[in-house]
Order: sequence, then structure tokens, then C-alpha cells
Amino acid sequence: METKDIPYPKAKINLLTKSVRKITLDDNQVRNHYDKAALRRAPRRTRFHDETFVLKKYHNDIKFTLISTFLPHPASHVQRNILDLCCGQGTDIHKWHKNRVSNVIAVDLSPLAVSEASKRYTESGYQSSGLNVAFHVADIENDDLFVITKGQRFPLVTCFFAIQYFFKDERMLSTLLKHVSDSLLPGGFFVGTCPDAKKIISLITEDAIAFSSPRVLVERMWKEPVGAFGSQVALEIKNTVTWGDNKNRNVEYLVYESVLKKAAQQYGLFPVEWPNLHLLEQTGSQHGLFRGFCPNTRVFGEDKYDLFELSRTYAAFVFVKRS
Ligand SMILES: C[S@@+](CC[C@H](N)C(=O)[O-])C[C@H]1O[C@@H](n2cnc3c(N)ncnc32)[C@H](O)[C@@H]1O
Repeated sequence: METKDIPYPKAKINLLTKSVRKITLDDNQVRNHYDKAALRRAPRRTRFHDETFVLKKYHNDIKFTLISTFLPHPASHVQRNILDLCCGQGTDIHKWHKNRVSNVIAVDLSPLAVSEASKRYTESGYQSSGLNVAFHVADIENDDLFVITKGQRFPLVTCFFAIQYFFKDERMLSTLLKHVSDSLLPGGFFVGTCPDAKKIISLITEDAIAFSSPRVLVERMWKEPVGAFGSQVALEIKNTVTWGDNKNRNVEYLVYESVLKKAAQQYGLFPVEWPNLHLLEQTGSQHGLFRGFCPNTRVFGEDKYDLFELSRTYAAFVFVKRS
């Protein structure tokens, strides 16, 4: 059967042109935001029917595929262990189980998110089928991960939908990448997903300050000229942990592919050639890092133009650690 993509009516989106709001961020902004998000977690039975489910499912499928592609082969002598940075509320527990992962060390800044993740893991019953997960509260910027991992090295380090918080300044990104590099076995992979700065900028368009609908908000908070670090953007998706309110916006930073690539190289992390996964675009160039998300308009549905456009701003990245 022939399947055609649906051309979306652009008119449903508001491109706001009012002046940029001033939001003062305190040091605990990110922790507070994710603590609050953990408190309002929806009951599991309602999650499948919510209006942003289609986007969450697509993003989860991408994470699942990346984990299965970059874990060591089951027949190899290397254990299928993962270090998951910025694990949130443990949304990846089922993916680890399905991928027959042996041990996971998972860390996050938000104590309430980690407590929710631990609860979900205990309730999953996966311990008895051989999945061992140790969740820890840690601020990757300021805490010593070595104390948590006890120097263990992993074939796979993941950081899903979170590296954007480390683009506050160069020092913060370097701290994260050093932890990643120190925690990887030679030949191991560092895999993640994040919004791509270039696509965020083109989504908002030049004369607007926000791309918004009742379900999504992407608001320009950076000052021109936009810099490699510290360029703030509010990015929220309804019924996800990113959703905030006027007092408590989810504020992140723009992530540039070239900046990430250059910074990672200093820690022995290099973009890797990887197989064509149907859920993602091909790389733009031979040594390109980002593979854009390419949601299917037909799967997203006619009325989900806002979710479709937002999903398209994300990209996946994979580095290999060279010794
Ligand atoms: C959008 S959530 C992603 C959660 C999870 N990886 C997922 O894919 O669902 C971003 C997470 O990054 C965490 N985070 C942000 N900055 C952090 C830091 N400095 N150290 C540890 N975790 C951090 C937040 O607490 C939050 O749980």
C-alpha cells in the first residue's frame, strides 16, 4: 500500500513577536524543575492516551534503537553494562531489560526523579531477571563520578535529552566529556540525543521570539549575536518532564554540532560511522555528528503539526572512544 505524508497546515502554530521575557535563573533551577516534574508524574494508565504520546513513543523508539545498536554483541566477551548520565525518572528501565543489559549505573541531579526511578525499578521486578541498576543522585558538573562508579569502565555511556544543560559554559561541557571519556572502555560508545541549535533557530524564525502551541513552547531567550555557549532557550513539551509554568520554565542551552564535536575530540571521543537507522536522517557530511530526527507526519497524525516540527529539531549523536 502506498503511504503518503500529510502536508501540515502551518497556521495552527503561534509565532509570537512580543519582546523577550526576562527570567532570572538561580543555581538550582534545573534541579527544582525536575523535582517538580517528578511530583506531578501521571498515573501509568493515562500516559498511553495523552496528546503527546506519539512524540514520546517516537523518541523512546529512537533511544531503544540506539541502545540496541551500540551495546556489545551478546556473543562478545564484554558485559552489556551501561553508565546512564541524566537518567531522569528511569524511563529507560524497560529498554535496558529488553536489551538484556546486565548492569547499569544511572545518575541524575534531581533527588525526586531518582527516587521515582528507583521505585519504578523495584516495582518492575527486573532484578530477578538479571538487570542490576544502581541509581545515584549526583550533579555531574560538581560531583566526582569516579566515587560513584568506583573507576569502573563501560562499553556504553548514554546521555539522552540532557547534554543541552551542559552548554551553559565551556567548563561545564568539558567536565561532562571528561567524565564520559574516563568512564568508557577503549572502543566504547558515547550515545545521546539533544535539540540541534541550527534547527531551533530556524524553527522560531527571524522575526518571532517563540514557536508555541497549547502543547509545545520553544522560546528564544538568547541574546544576539548567539554564542557557542550560554545561549538560553525555553523548551517545553506537554505531558513530559520538560513542561513547566511561568514560575518554573525549563530553560536549556543551544547545542551546536561543531562545538560538541570539537570539545569531545579533546577527550579522545570521535564521531563514528554507524548504520542507517530508519528512524533517523543520514548524516549531512562524511564526518558529521548529528543525525536528525525524522518523524513521520502520517504516524504523528494530521493535528500534530506542532509536535512534528518540534521533534524535527532533535538529533542523535554517537562518539567512539579511541585509546
Ligand atoms: C529531559 S530530562 C531527560 C531524562 C532521561 N535521560 C530521558 O531520556 O528521559 C533531563 C535530565 O537531565 C538532568 N540533569 C540536568 N543537569 C544535570 C547535571 N548537572 N547533573 C545530573 N543530571 C542533570 C535533569 O535532572 C533531568 O532529569
